[in-house]
Amino acid sequence: MQTPEQAAAEVVFMARQHRYIQKELGGLLILAPVELPGRTLSILDVGCGDGLVLSELHAQVGAESNLVGLDINPAALAQGETTYGKKGIKLLQHDMNDPLPENLQNSFDLVHVRYSLYGAGRSGVEQVIKNLASALKPGGWLQVQEIDVQAGHSDHGEALTEYIGLFTTLIEKMGNDAKFVLKLKPAFEGAGLIDVKVSQYDAKFGKDAIDADESIEIFTHSIPLMVGYLKQLGVAKADSSLHERLKAELAVKGATFPRYVVMGRKA
Ligand SMILES: C[S@@+](CC[C@H](N)C(=O)[O-])C[C@H]1O[C@@H](n2cnc3c(N)ncnc32)[C@H](O)[C@@H]1O
Repeated sequence: MQTPEQAAAEVVFMARQHRYIQKELGGLLILAPVELPGRTLSILDVGCGDGLVLSELHAQVGAESNLVGLDINPAALAQGETTYGKKGIKLLQHDMNDPLPENLQNSFDLVHVRYSLYGAGRSGVEQVIKNLASALKPGGWLQVQEIDVQAGHSDHGEALTEYIGLFTTLIEKMGNDAKFVLKLKPAFEGAGLIDVKVSQYDAKFGKDAIDADESIEIFTHSIPLMVGYLKQLGVAKADSSLHERLKAELAVKGATFPRYVVMGRKA
């Protein structure tokens, strides 16, 4: 459980990461074919943090729209309540591994998830995608964006290889498959979604990124978090010099990973 201070720091980081992703993708947020401007829509964001993504969508859709965010972390939700609650965005605590409450089922035109499915270990990605699909109205779209950090190039340096090892251990300790990103398309199809499409964009860090320093800070920010979680899980194998070594290595060698945006609609 995070303290309010840790949650506040995490929220600041998520906003920074969000701005950077938006810069990389030229402002593209929703790739699923859902027309937003001025329309009255119901939108659910799962793993919403403090609700920043919803607040951006709020600025685009019609005033009567219904915007709901779910997250497992009560501290981030509490912070979002203060920042975005007055806009009418509803933020609720919910673990994506559990079935959605009945009042949220068959209700949304768009369900959006980004960089949150690492948390799908307890029930598995297939079940979590079914949980998310249950939120859709007929014709509604599910969009999931994730990076496959396992799929980098073979010329990875020592520090990056060590980082990926830590990430793999953490994800597996959480009960998830470190290659969960590759399960997304079959999971969408297994959940009965149709018109399933996968778009791929490179996520570049360090040398070849649009902003090398910013991208390195964003990438390496996860190290102390991962180390903290691994310690809680009884795995204390992270080397404290990894942060500095990875920063230096990414500045010289860079790293590119595939970023997938998977979308599908309920018939
Ligand atoms: C890396 S942040 C991404 C935040 C936001 N989606 C974005 O793209 O800016 C991951 C979020 O997923 C949430 N999360 C992790 N596991 C979860 C779970 N099992 N159920 C719901 N939310 C979860 C975390 O609390 C965190 O807010």
